[in-house]
Amino acid sequence: MKYKAPRGTRDILPEDSWKWRRVETAFRETADGFGYREIRVPIFEETDLFARGIGDSTDIVRKEMYTFEDRKGRSLTLRPEGTAGVVRSFIEHSMGRGGRLTKVHYFGPMFRYERPQAGRYRQFWQWGLEAIGSTNPAVDAEIIHFSISLHDRLGLTGAEARINSAGCPTCTPAYNELLRKELAPKLDGFCSDCRVRYERNPRRMFDCKNETCLAILASAPSILSSLCEECASHFEQVKALLGGAKLKFTIDESMARGLDYYTKTIFEVHHPGLGAQSALCGGGRYDELVEELGGDATPACGVSGGVDRLIIVLEEQGLFDEEEPGPDVYVATVGDEAEALGAALVARLRGDRSVETDYRGRSLKAQMKEAGKLRARVCVIVGEDELARGVAVVRDMETRGQDDVPLDDVPAAVGRLLERAEG
Ligand code: HAM
Repeated sequence: MKYKAPRGTRDILPEDSWKWRRVETAFRETADGFGYREIRVPIFEETDLFARGIGDSTDIVRKEMYTFEDRKGRSLTLRPEGTAGVVRSFIEHSMGRGGRLTKVHYFGPMFRYERPQAGRYRQFWQWGLEAIGSTNPAVDAEIIHFSISLHDRLGLTGAEARINSAGCPTCTPAYNELLRKELAPKLDGFCSDCRVRYERNPRRMFDCKNETCLAILASAPSILSSLCEECASHFEQVKALLGGAKLKFTIDESMARGLDYYTKTIFEVHHPGLGAQSALCGGGRYDELVEELGGDATPACGVSGGVDRLIIVLEEQGLFDEEEPGPDVYVATVGDEAEALGAALVARLRGDRSVETDYRGRSLKAQMKEAGKLRARVCVIVGEDELARGVAVVRDMETRGQDDVPLDDVPAAVGRLLERAEG
């Protein structure tokens, strides 16, 4: 029997995992710069949290959750997204005490039972931010700014922000009625899923992936003309703030987002390199969710992005064309006595450097070849001759220059070479 990774999941192998680390580091540094502290929440939660939070009429809750019963018969679900769990934690730990703004970031796997294709998986990684506790449109602008800054930091060009509004409980009932009225005569042209959406929540029809449905929806009325005064003014302020910060964006009136919790600003950042699955990240304001999940009424705004997709685009754009960084040092030895001494040297150097060595008793030539293949920056060689003289050869692998260095001085000599190489 041959086991394979389950459909829609993938192994991130050592030759690729450095790319993931680079993205994760860029994300954490950007999040630190914007003042978002890290939160780690469970990978599974009570099913009801997601059903209530994301919404019963969404595709995620209706068709895509990995739900199971534990041994005591409790219904649990692998998190399909991060926001509901973060809000649950915010309420559980009274993080909003004293009316402060809570800004958190997270990075980890999410699970959705979707049809796998390029850029769409059943286990995928998201980076995410949530700012809970302010109605200020400057928070929306900050989160959009963050989304663009992260891609800039990674060197990605061509990403574009699209924004829209989801309205609020004051203005959406009238919009839903208007949508129903306009779409009623065309209902026969929609797929069976959309006809269910029409009854439950007509705005969810915009989530459909069927071309025919989308073509009919192209002429549907825009939510922007139905916004209440408060939502319209909020939208104007977000646009003005983005413009003031010289951030480029377009208005996308057909964007609906696939989760029910949004109010006011919604946005996505797309990249043309991704084809059909072109959203690198998406988010928006969710002013009702904290109360909906049992907390005090607290406005909030957030975003999450797909790391798998981001890496696909970065690869396509040649941003990983340089190779995986090699070890700082390779320690090569010849003979048993030198090997023992080499082991002690490796242990000493590993305190603050990455160090590789040979454990297979290979010839010096084979070890030097390996050091070159790994792209070690410095090589330390201890052979029988060096041992007799109490020295090691310290070689700069780039310039090929080398010196005999007394054994005790090797760490300092290696440090000097690496510092010079690091500039
Ligand atoms: P979302 O749009 O469902 O929003 O997902 C955010 C991002 O996750 C997408 O733009 C996409 O890059 C990535 N993604 C989603 N599904 C998949 C998949 N099956 N395979 C690969 N990547 C995927 C949310 O999850 C919200 N929690 C965002 C948010 C945070 N809103 C407020 N705060």
